[in-house]
Amino acid sequence: MTVTRAATDYDVTNLDLAAEGVRRVEWAEREMPVLRSIRDRFASEQPLKGVRVGACLHVTTETANLMRTLQAGGADVVLAASNPLSTQDDVAAALVTEYGIPVHARRGEDRDTYYRHLNSVADMHPSLTMDDGCDLVSLLHQDRAEQVKEVLAGTEETTTGVIRLRAMAADDALGYPVIAVNEAQTKHLFDNRYGTGQSTLDGILRATNLLIAGRNIAIAGYGWVGKGIAARMKGHGGHVAVVEVDPIRALEALMDGFEVKTAAEAAGWADLLVTATGNVNVFRREHFAVMKDGAIMANSGHFDAELDLKALREMAEGHVRDVRENVQEFDIGGKRLRLIAEGRLVNLGAAEGHPAAVMDMSFANQALSVEYIVKNHGTLKPEVYVVPIDIDREIARLKLQAMGARIDALTDEQKRYLASWESGT
Ligand SMILES: NC(=O)c1ccc[n+]([C@@H]2O[C@H](COP(=O)([O-])OP(=O)(O)OC[C@H]3O[C@@H](n4cnc5c(N)ncnc54)[C@H](O)[C@@H]3O)[C@@H](O)[C@H]2O)c1
Repeated sequence: MTVTRAATDYDVTNLDLAAEGVRRVEWAEREMPVLRSIRDRFASEQPLKGVRVGACLHVTTETANLMRTLQAGGADVVLAASNPLSTQDDVAAALVTEYGIPVHARRGEDRDTYYRHLNSVADMHPSLTMDDGCDLVSLLHQDRAEQVKEVLAGTEETTTGVIRLRAMAADDALGYPVIAVNEAQTKHLFDNRYGTGQSTLDGILRATNLLIAGRNIAIAGYGWVGKGIAARMKGHGGHVAVVEVDPIRALEALMDGFEVKTAAEAAGWADLLVTATGNVNVFRREHFAVMKDGAIMANSGHFDAELDLKALREMAEGHVRDVRENVQEFDIGGKRLRLIAEGRLVNLGAAEGHPAAVMDMSFANQALSVEYIVKNHGTLKPEVYVVPIDIDREIARLKLQAMGARIDALTDEQKRYLASWESGT
């Protein structure tokens, strides 16, 4: 790989890891044909010339390919991590030395470093923000309000971020438009369901080497993420129960063939408990108290707030030890509860995040949304927007093409039939 230009302002763990990072970024690229085709077009059309993109995303091989795509389109890009545990240090090093993209991220960074890194992104005065969880938007609005007017618009990757942004918009606190990439069908139907479903299982298996077959597994949340995890756990022979608060989703889970239990019922029943709700304290003190000895807990929702870790630490009274890489054991009085990846996103903390083939679509949405913002920001208000349907369809079309599948087009007769109301039986 030729060195284009090494970034000068960065903070990563070890630049010597760059060669391995490049190998892995290129491996991911092979699985990202849609993003590749966008990058080729961006390189010739330069639609992002003069745009300064401040990005706060998981620093993974797939993100590296998104950063390269934006850079190919003419944008200046700076990247910080959206989660202290998800950074792949070799990728961060490769981005800096081989791709000339400033990165501020170190795996395992503490809270202060995490925010210092976000501030480094803000220091480049982005004209466009790209967030995964809304931390960058939130930092700009709360600590650097004078910079908000410099931003044309932003994009947001995940459900939790979109919820926070909608709350800001409802309070008239959102200072610029944001496109909710998560709302694209080619994002959440695939990334949240198939990507998180598979990579959550991957993270749990890498961390524990647990046999899923025959085990009782509780999944809290039956949204797109929970559905994906539940289906994959069942596919491995687990007995799966869903914990929900929404009666429609709970009914759906029941009819999909899962048991439905309350958190309290699931707590005493499960060998493995996985949260994916986007909510806080789903399993808490009273649940820990009735869990089985050896029960394992993991979280795949955005923040490490789904398990009440404060209560867990208090109950363990200091009897906490590392029992495997990414697994801590809390002895809460003759009973040991195990926690993977500190309760942070298990698929990123204990595995590599989503497979590149899925992120291909999510990040194609990011890249095309950025292009859309550059062309249309003058017409957008400070609200949360969904990805335009034409972009969604184009990404699905490109992905189908890349996967060698073809579909039919409506005949003229079928179009007329669907548009008419006169014809019945
Ligand atoms: N791990 C990843 O890589 C990854 C990928 C995509 C999304 N996410 C995150 O996963 C979370 C879920 O995303 P989603 O797209 O499935 O959201 P969703 O809104 O579709 O589903 C969340 C579900 O959780 C349920 N829920 C809320 N509070 C609950 C509670 N106390 N107990 C039980 N159920 C409860 C809701 O009723 C809803 O059905 C979000 O935080 C999102 O940001 C993570």
